[in-house]
Amino acid sequence: MKIAILPGDGIGPEIVAQAVRVLEKLKADGLAVETVTVPLGGAAYDQYGEPYPEATRDVVRTADAILLGAVGGPQYDTLPRDKRPERGLLAIRKDLGLFGNLRPAMLYPELAGASTLKPEVVAGLDIMIVRELTGDIYFGQPRGIHVNDAGEREGFNTMRYSESEIRRIAKVAFEIAQKRNKKLCSVDKANVLECTEFWKEIVIDVAKQYPDVELSHMYVDNAAMQLVRNPKQFDVIVTGNIFGDILSDEASMLTGSIGMLPSASLDANNKGLYEPCHGSAPDIAGKNVANPLATILSLAMMMRYTFAREDIAKRIETAVQTVLRQGYRTADIYEAGTQKVSCSGMGDAVVAALA
Ligand code: IPM
Ligand code: MG
Repeated sequence: MKIAILPGDGIGPEIVAQAVRVLEKLKADGLAVETVTVPLGGAAYDQYGEPYPEATRDVVRTADAILLGAVGGPQYDTLPRDKRPERGLLAIRKDLGLFGNLRPAMLYPELAGASTLKPEVVAGLDIMIVRELTGDIYFGQPRGIHVNDAGEREGFNTMRYSESEIRRIAKVAFEIAQKRNKKLCSVDKANVLECTEFWKEIVIDVAKQYPDVELSHMYVDNAAMQLVRNPKQFDVIVTGNIFGDILSDEASMLTGSIGMLPSASLDANNKGLYEPCHGSAPDIAGKNVANPLATILSLAMMMRYTFAREDIAKRIETAVQTVLRQGYRTADIYEAGTQKVSCSGMGDAVVAALA
């Protein structure tokens, strides 16, 4: 297993360090892993003047899988747009063709009290959001800020989806639904936006190949509301890049903390980039208080999706469940009666639970 490690910015290095400890443990137990660490985002800008430099590109292109912390920080917000850390993340996704973004929102029973929603609304929650990741208004041309014909400055972006882009992400979503509860909800804004009206049309066509999956459609505004009203109605959700960005942050809070949510971004051959759904949290960076579990769970997803090692994925997920049952909590999921631990303290607990 050739794994590229991209610590990134903010809390990225701290949380990735804990996942690397898990990897070291697996290696000590006989797993053949080879890792190379390279920068992305602000860290890459500091070193090379680019958020996705050639040195990083060469490594990630030949790796089997990539583990990423997070990118971004206030010190980079005033850089020219193409030098900003977020551009590095978008560039690596596009360069490697990582169009299929899987964002599971699952509630650990031990954390039912940490959600801002009533425990009965979220108990047993298990949703998979499939977000298209390399198209849509994120990448659509034309885009920019210019002076329009009336002489006024304006900003503009373009929402675009080609048929093949929709077909391939729909296929991914139907196949995941087949392995779960066979319910797929496609989220769009077909009542207003032609681009997503087309999305809906193509998803309906792809559905003919998956008669065992029950397909439904929902407008994105309603989906945002339904996610907090009755989230357990959902099994798999498939949606475009921008709607998926927003809905996956919303879904994360159902589970108590965005610090718990892993993600996988896959290409057509299951090569993948794995990262927590949360950001670089500059306000707590360097303090050893961040929650490393989303990153550790991202490593579990890597074992499952890229390396087809369900046994190792389960082993990591079981260790995470064990530490939660033992009562260990980082600050973001802390409740009275549990034991508060640091980022590295949580890493210690997970490594111990793996043994
Ligand atoms: C995410 C993030 C990114 C996105 C940002 C950092 C570019 O919010 O992975 O959800 O918008 O895709
Ligand atoms: Mg986001």
